[in-house]
Amino acid sequence: MGFTMGLNLLLLLAMVATNILSLYHLSSTTVNSSSTKPPAPPQVPDYLIHQLQTIRATINHLTRHNPSKPTSSSSSSTIPDDLLLHSRLSPIGSSCHNHPDLLHRYMNYTPFSLCPHDTDLQETLILHGCQPLPRRRCFSRTPPKPSSALPLNPYPSSLPDSNLIWTHYDCKSFSCLNHQNPLLGFDPSRESTSSFMYFRSELDLPVPQLLQIAKAATSLIRIGLDIGGATGSFAARMKLYNITVLTTTMNLGAPYSEAAALRGLVPLHVPLQQRLPVFDGVLDLVRCGHAVNRWIPITMMEFLFFDVDRVLRAGGYLWLDRFFSKRSDLDKVYGPLIGKLGLSQNENQVIQFEALLPDQ
Ligand SMILES: *[C@@H]1O[C@H](CO)[C@@H](O)[C@H](O)[C@H]1NC(C)=O
Ligand SMILES: *[C@@H]1O[C@H](CO)[C@@H](O)[C@H](O)[C@H]1NC(C)=O
Repeated sequence: MGFTMGLNLLLLLAMVATNILSLYHLSSTTVNSSSTKPPAPPQVPDYLIHQLQTIRATINHLTRHNPSKPTSSSSSSTIPDDLLLHSRLSPIGSSCHNHPDLLHRYMNYTPFSLCPHDTDLQETLILHGCQPLPRRRCFSRTPPKPSSALPLNPYPSSLPDSNLIWTHYDCKSFSCLNHQNPLLGFDPSRESTSSFMYFRSELDLPVPQLLQIAKAATSLIRIGLDIGGATGSFAARMKLYNITVLTTTMNLGAPYSEAAALRGLVPLHVPLQQRLPVFDGVLDLVRCGHAVNRWIPITMMEFLFFDVDRVLRAGGYLWLDRFFSKRSDLDKVYGPLIGKLGLSQNENQVIQFEALLPDQ
């Protein structure tokens, strides 16, 4: 649909400077920033580095499962390599059968009784492309004494610890998670006044400005999807504007999904390689946050963008928030990749190419 329908592209291609550079062990001979950019690059907060490292670990985890051993050696020569690859990286059918050991453990339960404590196993299977997981006939576990006092507003002063099963996490409370890293989003109250509301750097797009862009185009943003949205910070802000945003989350080492749900926000347990569980051409907005970046294998990213294009309505917005890559990759790889979607170059389009990783 991209070629004919004129989707608006809201593209904030951005790289976050100093700390990322050290992350990449680059020398200080970085290329000069563009002339419009102020000399001091925006500081990258620790939580972002932490998130990026988590994402990178996940992707490494994923890509280790390359199709080195085709299941059927006799037919392997007739199967295109990329099909083999994507049957694992993105679920053409299901990749569950590629991990019989994990699948066996997952399906080893007593029917009609309580499900095992196997959240980590589920997460691992999903990341290996076994999505959707097979259904089971066991009862999901619930916390022993959940509080019924759930917050109505997405910025409560605290999240109730008693509404979560903490067994498989190192931390056993939200305050512990906050103590480990106050900026991961487990303390919604600290986001209440500021998150997505102000320009802290030129990479930011506050929600009032986002809505202004849509309004100026006589477009309306009512429903959207935030890819890799952690505890739902973006959805929380949009909720205050009566806009419904679904958030895709994975529970990578912390209860992101539960935290979003406790804020009254819908978490979709969907990895980056899964087809979005939304019908074609229905969403007003898709935001890709830090999780969508150059660490994703390029073929997987291509599937992701085509899927985003699929779910966006005509005139819907794609917001690439702080996408980062090397400049040469932007010109040679990501620019053309995004260009393929045929997002229209009209007056609604906002393209901000920010400082990028220097070429190595
Ligand atoms: C970077 O900018 C400085 C001052 O603006 C200039 O002297 C230098 O030649 C530039 N370096 C490159 C690699 O463009
Ligand atoms: C959201 O909806 C409520 C209830 O209809 C209304 O009172 C409120 O003003 C709306 N907020 C915005 C920002 O439109």
